Amino acid sequence: MTHDTRTTGRDQAAIRVWDLPTRLFHWGLVALIVAMVATAWRGKLDLHMTLGQIVLALVLFRLVWGFVGNRYARFGSFVAGPVAALRYLASLFSAQNERHVGHNPLGGYAVLAMLALLLLQAGTGLFTSDDIVTDGPLYSKVSGSTSALLSTIHRTSIWVLLSVIALHVCASLFYLLVKKDNLIGPMLTGRKQAGPADDAGGGGHPLLAAIIFALCLAIVFGGIAMVK
Ligand code: HEM
Ligand code: HEM
Repeated sequence: MTHDTRTTGRDQAAIRVWDLPTRLFHWGLVALIVAMVATAWRGKLDLHMTLGQIVLALVLFRLVWGFVGNRYARFGSFVAGPVAALRYLASLFSAQNERHVGHNPLGGYAVLAMLALLLLQAGTGLFTSDDIVTDGPLYSKVSGSTSALLSTIHRTSIWVLLSVIALHVCASLFYLLVKKDNLIGPMLTGRKQAGPADDAGGGGHPLLAAIIFALCLAIVFGGIAMVK
């Protein structure tokens, strides 16, 4: 279901936009990605592989949450067509700035790109080898040439992922400093100034999120242990 989350007219009181599971997902992911890069570059590959499987479970959780999370966490509320994204881009540099209380149509594409790149990074990691002592848990399940290809992708796609993340952080700072619109605070508190047409997020119960995340962890760790 697609909701129009554009604000119109005068702002009203702050409403809860980002549910607790989405915020925990976001800041947990940030901490884990920093740890992933640090463990890889410092050669702590055992820890890297354990944390990497948690990243995989977290991303799977977010994909499910995109269907059962609160209104603003759902893909249906922020995945828009290319025309909407281009119209939003044009409005960014005009006086008639479209404001969206959830992800804007352009930001929606950034979210999808980051989730896809994270899946690629964590997925290829399972088959990666450092060609010395450490092999990903599913390394032996594919041929040598496939593993070599997936290892190359793992070592290369990190730069694409880091570039998109850098763009994402710069975009948040652009809104804060140039557009005077603080998007970072709401990702911490969940609350954001809304317009008369916007409803509070509702739903997105943390207990449901905890159960889904536990299942994702069981699927990733259990699935890999069964297959390897
Ligand atoms: C490893 C680094 C990061 C990754 C992988 C990442 C990823 C993401 C993802 C996937 C979302 C979508 C949230 C959702 O709907 O579930 C998001 C939203 C957001 N992130 Fe990040 N993020 C990172 C770092 C940061 C940092 C450092 C900041 C602050 C400067 C930040 C600010 C935000 C904001 C403000 C939003 C909400 C955007 C909006 O209002 O539409 N992120 N991020
Ligand atoms: C989003 C999650 C992940 C990120 C950001 C990430 C990042 C990285 C980085 C930056 C490197 C160093 C590449 C280089 O030396 O040039 C690396 C290497 C490696 N990663 Fe990951 N990784 C992730 C997930 C995983 C997972 C899930 C596994 C396995 C369970 C894994 C296994 C490995 C292995 C075995 C290496 C060593 C390969 C080599 O030395 O070239 N990674 N990873």
